[in-house]
Amino acid sequence: MEQMTNIKPLTPDSIDEAVQYWRDGHLVAFGTETVYGLGADACQPLAVSKIFATKNRPQFNPLISHVADPETAFALGNVTPLAQTLADTFWPGAMTLVLNQCEDRTIADLVTAGLDSVALRVPEHTGARQLLAAAAVPIAAPSANPSGRLSPTTADHVAMAFADQDEPKLILDMEASAKGLESTVIDARGDIPVLLRPGSITAEMIAELTGHAPKAPENRILSPGQLASHYAPNARIRCHADAPQTGEAWLGFGNDPDLSEALEACNLSPQADLNEAAANLFSMLRVLDQSGAASIAVAAIPHHGLGVAINDRLSRAAAPRPSS
Ligand code: TXA
Ligand code: MG
Repeated sequence: MEQMTNIKPLTPDSIDEAVQYWRDGHLVAFGTETVYGLGADACQPLAVSKIFATKNRPQFNPLISHVADPETAFALGNVTPLAQTLADTFWPGAMTLVLNQCEDRTIADLVTAGLDSVALRVPEHTGARQLLAAAAVPIAAPSANPSGRLSPTTADHVAMAFADQDEPKLILDMEASAKGLESTVIDARGDIPVLLRPGSITAEMIAELTGHAPKAPENRILSPGQLASHYAPNARIRCHADAPQTGEAWLGFGNDPDLSEALEACNLSPQADLNEAAANLFSMLRVLDQSGAASIAVAAIPHHGLGVAINDRLSRAAAPRPSS
């Protein structure tokens, strides 16, 4: 099979090319001081769905959004005194802060897995910051490896991992990642830091700076992987439905049945396209939930490709919840 990997060193021209790909809804892999990221414009849900498809991730876990400077980060997430202290010392750098999203949400629901919070990072790598400044939009980027494989620290790792995929369209060679370990993720919404993912900025460094030993996530729900279950709609979810019953909300896929009994209806993808369905999933669940319907009936979603992650999300939402 012909391999057409587009690897380029970071130059003004390759930056322009990357920005154009991002604008057109494609993926570009780029280096940071931690690991290579597989990036998409965080404001374009369809582009973000390609991250999950390309990584073959079976779940929609929330992604980190990368920006060029702390001011831009704090235009997306509400700054707290704790966040300000951490940012003043560790940004730019290998730290990601989880904050409450600002009122005026621009980041796609698929990036935050429907959560009200957002994970933000200002990398230190000079080239990465030039690239992010040129992009002028937040770039959602998990590590640029297929799900379950090691995180990549060279452009060649990325190229080998995705050799048979049509994304990313471009891999920017930014030299080997110095740290080779993902960023430290800190929930900085409260007064005391909560360490969601350990990394090269250690608990000791955080304690020394803030005067508080970081807490472990109180709630299992906040730990990686479990997080997607946090956004649970109020409505009951009824999967594999043929049609809505009277008063139910309807979430369709492909051709819709008779919707005259539905309280409210959305269609994830009338063309039955799984990428489009993934892009619409969280925002449509939110709309239907806000309709006040007691139950949302959901059409069957094929269980392959991105359909696996969509079904994972729907079955978690459908599962009985512990009352709290
Ligand atoms: O070093 C890194 O952080 C790399 C490079 C590319 O920047 N990126 C990376 O991204 O590892 P990602 O998307 O794979 O990391 C996501 C982590 C997960 O542990 C996830 O649970 C957490 O961030 N996270 C994202 N959004 C969150 C949120 N709203 N609340 C809590 N945790 C969140
Ligand atoms: Mg990873």
